[in-house]
Amino acid sequence: MKILVTGGAGYIGTHTAVELLDKGYEVVVVDNLSNSSKVAVERVEQITGKKVAFYEGDVRDRQLMKQIFDEHQIDWVIHFAGLKAVGESCSKPLEYYDNNLYGTLVLLETMREHNCKKLVFSSSATVYGNPEVLPLTEECKTGGTTNPYGTSKYFQEIILTDLHKSDNDWTVVLLRYFNPVGAHESGLIGEDPQGIPNNLTPFIAKVAIGELAEIGVFGNDYDTPDGTGVRDYIHVVDLAKGHVAAIDGIKESGRYVYNLGTGNGYSVLQVIDAFGKACNKKLPFAIKPRRAGDIATCYADASKAKRELGWEATHDIDDMCASLWNWQSKNPKGYKN
Ligand code: UD1
Repeated sequence: MKILVTGGAGYIGTHTAVELLDKGYEVVVVDNLSNSSKVAVERVEQITGKKVAFYEGDVRDRQLMKQIFDEHQIDWVIHFAGLKAVGESCSKPLEYYDNNLYGTLVLLETMREHNCKKLVFSSSATVYGNPEVLPLTEECKTGGTTNPYGTSKYFQEIILTDLHKSDNDWTVVLLRYFNPVGAHESGLIGEDPQGIPNNLTPFIAKVAIGELAEIGVFGNDYDTPDGTGVRDYIHVVDLAKGHVAAIDGIKESGRYVYNLGTGNGYSVLQVIDAFGKACNKKLPFAIKPRRAGDIATCYADASKAKRELGWEATHDIDDMCASLWNWQSKNPKGYKN
């Protein structure tokens, strides 16, 4: 079986490509390298000892997308390609909607023209907005997103849902990720953010290698056990395996939604503590004001994916921090070494 992975040179895309190749799937990657590196694809080949068919380009490029589907008999698409920085999306909403929505439309139209109607979509817990009940189940209300990045994920879910309604031959799988962290155990692939990281664990990792001075903790007055924000961190390898489980497990066309999380919440201070243990350093931090748009607590009920796909996360927060430290310490400049 051949899988097209859009955004397959990125953080989650590379980890998913490794799991697919390890399971014997053939992998085709299209990536415009706007936030990723060709080296990452070479590392995927190094880890697995298998070849990836790589196309450098944009999913909005109709000509290129047609070429890929003409050259390969694609069975499933896993669609990661898109912009993902929350803050940047507020200052560049048109770029975000153009990339994320228009890209998805071109991809879906090309798939339809080639009669490939199976797609796994990289969605996010952000589609739940500010949770009314916890843990979040797939039945919880979606919408109420607070930034163009989150809204683009929500809109893409609607587009895919409408597409399936219009033509039941489609299989659309919406995977709602909680907070992906960590790296492959080889230390060859991992998250490589450009500039100062927005997300917590890459920021901590940069403090641990001495590139940044201290961690800013965004608020300690939330209604949580220690006052800092609580999230459901999930090891990126577990997350990657969730995609393979969806492709292996879903046999009938339909619209499917799964939360991919662990079901456990950890606070910012707990994550700093776990990372400190992993790198054996005392990590300096300072309490800062709350970050606009943040919520107090977010964690998944991930039991549906276990029940229906036989998938569950197996790595705990210590594994996540140890693997991230392994990647960061071996690749202090990411893929630019
Ligand atoms: C955000 C996005 C989510 C996106 C995810 C990964 C929202 C509401 N969430 O998740 O859609 O999928 O990034 O790109 O937009 N924190 C600090 N100091 C830091 C950084 C973060 O204290 O330097 C805290 C935050 O306040 C939060 C926790 O750490 O409590 C996690 O933050 P982060 O890693 O940015 O992820 P989310 O905001 O949960």
